[in-house]
Amino acid sequence: MPVISVPEAFNEEELYVDLRPIFGHPLYLKCEGFNFAGSVKLKTATAMVEGAERDGVLAPGSILVESSSGNLGVALSMIAASRGYRFLCVTDPRCNLSTRLLMEALGSEVHVVDEPSVSGGYLGARINYVRALCATDGRYVWLDQYTNPDNWQAHYRTTAPAIAGQFPQLDVLFVGAGTTGTLMGCARYFGEWRRPVRIVAVDSVGSVSFGHPPGRRMIPGLGMSMRPPLLDESCVDEAVHVEEVDTIRACHRLARHGFLFGGSTGTVVAGAMSWLARHDARELTTVAIAPDLGERYLGTIYQASWFQDRYGEDVLGSGDLPGHHVREAASY
Ligand SMILES: Cc1ncc(COP(=O)(O)O)c(C=O)c1O
Repeated sequence: MPVISVPEAFNEEELYVDLRPIFGHPLYLKCEGFNFAGSVKLKTATAMVEGAERDGVLAPGSILVESSSGNLGVALSMIAASRGYRFLCVTDPRCNLSTRLLMEALGSEVHVVDEPSVSGGYLGARINYVRALCATDGRYVWLDQYTNPDNWQAHYRTTAPAIAGQFPQLDVLFVGAGTTGTLMGCARYFGEWRRPVRIVAVDSVGSVSFGHPPGRRMIPGLGMSMRPPLLDESCVDEAVHVEEVDTIRACHRLARHGFLFGGSTGTVVAGAMSWLARHDARELTTVAIAPDLGERYLGTIYQASWFQDRYGEDVLGSGDLPGHHVREAASY
């Protein structure tokens, strides 16, 4: 029986969903959303705050500041409340309303940057805003998830060994790429492992992380409008790009089976299924990482008016429309 006294002390590390019955391809989905921050970002946030405490960067009166599309902001809000720091999150209009309310409920201040910067998109604008803020007041401490090595090292120490422990025969690992902290931590760990594992990064179309052209992206979590400073492509075997319509379809398909996951899980699952459909995967052991759950996306990915306005009336076809409960043949 786990009994805790601080919220960051609990994380479910051993839960997987077998997706073969739903999608027809062998894939185990590691669920990272079962903790008090509700996402994989609990690990990054804890590691970065502990790193700053260790280095003496955080002092009484410090104000944590970070640019986040949401989940890291929630995790930092939780840890800041738990440890008695103030926290200011700089986000943009794509941040879900519920995520923003969650941060405020935990006592954080949220600033929304309205205008994307000319060359760096919303991310560039958020980072410029954080830099300007830090220049005005020495109490601000920017943890900088985009360059902070504690981000990838958190996954090198926890996520990757947890997967290795459960899947000693692992062949392929699918990891979504945002800051690439999760990706790089897992890629470096499995690069040193006793057997070769193919590391497949999953990114959204419109993200420039792997040198593709920029484009419109509406779903937060995955994808970047600048090259991720943490990314070392030599550790990654290949990158798969997923259209947001396919993200929506994968999310709804999972939901029709009772699994309500977040947008980046839909992207990772869609990317993994397209990869598995192109390879003879019958004998392979494959795992994908699900960064969060679906409740934060009820007003977007799971709301018909939102996704039909953006991706067209027919985005789901008939099979995945809410309320239809149609079970399709088990292939993607
Ligand atoms: C929902 C969600 N998915 C995926 C990611 C990407 O993880 P990483 O930044 O480790 O690449 C994030 C990061 O913010 C996220 O919030």
